[in-house]
Amino acid sequence: MKFSIIGLGYVGGAMAKVLERVHDIATYDIDPKKNPSVSSLEEAIDFADAFLLCLPTNFSDETQAFDTKALDETAETILKVKPESTLIVKSTVPMGYCSTLQEKHPAAHVLFAPEFLRESKAEKDALHPSRIVIGSALKDEAFAQEIGDAFLKTLEDPSPIRYMSLEEAEAVKLFSNAYLALRIGFFNELDTYAASKGLSSSKIIESVGLDPRIGGHYNNPSFGYGGYCLPKDTKQLEANYKDVPEALISAVIESNSKRKDWVVQTILDKIKDKKDSSVLIYRLRMENGSSSIRYTSMKDIACSLKGKISHLAIYEPLWEEDTYFGIPVIHELKDELSIADLIVANRYEETLKPYLSKVFSRDKNL
Ligand SMILES: NC(=O)c1ccc[n+]([C@@H]2O[C@H](COP(=O)([O-])OP(=O)(O)OC[C@H]3O[C@@H](n4cnc5c(N)ncnc54)[C@H](O)[C@@H]3O)[C@@H](O)[C@H]2O)c1
Repeated sequence: MKFSIIGLGYVGGAMAKVLERVHDIATYDIDPKKNPSVSSLEEAIDFADAFLLCLPTNFSDETQAFDTKALDETAETILKVKPESTLIVKSTVPMGYCSTLQEKHPAAHVLFAPEFLRESKAEKDALHPSRIVIGSALKDEAFAQEIGDAFLKTLEDPSPIRYMSLEEAEAVKLFSNAYLALRIGFFNELDTYAASKGLSSSKIIESVGLDPRIGGHYNNPSFGYGGYCLPKDTKQLEANYKDVPEALISAVIESNSKRKDWVVQTILDKIKDKKDSSVLIYRLRMENGSSSIRYTSMKDIACSLKGKISHLAIYEPLWEEDTYFGIPVIHELKDELSIADLIVANRYEETLKPYLSKVFSRDKNL
């Protein structure tokens, strides 16, 4: 099949690598640094009749919903030229978005195929997805299966595939991310309790996880969930509940915020008796090996510490500028680890081994 992929970020870039194994693709992005194969949306429209929309959907605090402007405008432009196109929405959208788009453009085939990849393993996850989910309107059920078969052909191993309505597929995406956020929040709150009472959080977590209904995975305490997706997707899900009773999704969001407050207060308590203290934030990224520092909770923690510590600095090679929010950023370590009174690290790395006595981390591998 022929596909045009619009938006070449983490999702579009990974989809391009996977689809080009079997299909003919054109790629387009407004940012020329992403090396699109065509230089205009018009060329991408000309190339194919099926479009993968991998565009950003940031959460807008003003409207309390995702900003879908890039999706709206791109869909309008494509359908003006080719009204019967297939639009495969990969961006995460508010529930109800794709049905509204379909109703507005009855000749088009709007499918929603959420993406579940992790940024740190984008291509690997796209090639070995945990599942493929495709939502469609009733009229397009058979057509959705054709697209599903085209996706399956590109994978290295078979993957479960599920077909459902547009809104059900949208719900799968938002509830999946909300569960991940909930699980992170649960183990973080367990850890806050253990740390506050002088208990070993790793011992408790290990034994809690021996129950096969809970499991021993995805339970490493952190300084709060962050990244591009979990913060915005939980807020969007909460917004979708507007007319439906809920307590848990809002609590997950609040719990994450409380966890970051606790981390900040714990850091301040650790240095409160020392005049002229120096604190080094070791990495803004949240996971070892990750190349992304978008919306990380380390950034929020750094901002909250600003002005409250005599000498605050950040070590982060992925941040290109010399300051972050007015805080000096070091790109290469010299003697900063030995000089610092306290090193704040969300995740343990071998480099920190000689300085463990002054590392503040809740990583269970420490
Ligand atoms: N990053 C993830 O791990 C992940 C996982 C699953 C789903 N998603 C969802 O997928 C969508 C994209 O996420 P991402 O991480 O790939 O975003 P991204 O910011 O990495 O990439 C988006 C790309 O779209 C381009 N773009 C913006 N406006 C455009 C326009 N009008 N025309 C053409 N290109 C345009 C940008 O230049 C950028 O390269 C979001 O809705 C996100 O929630 C992301």
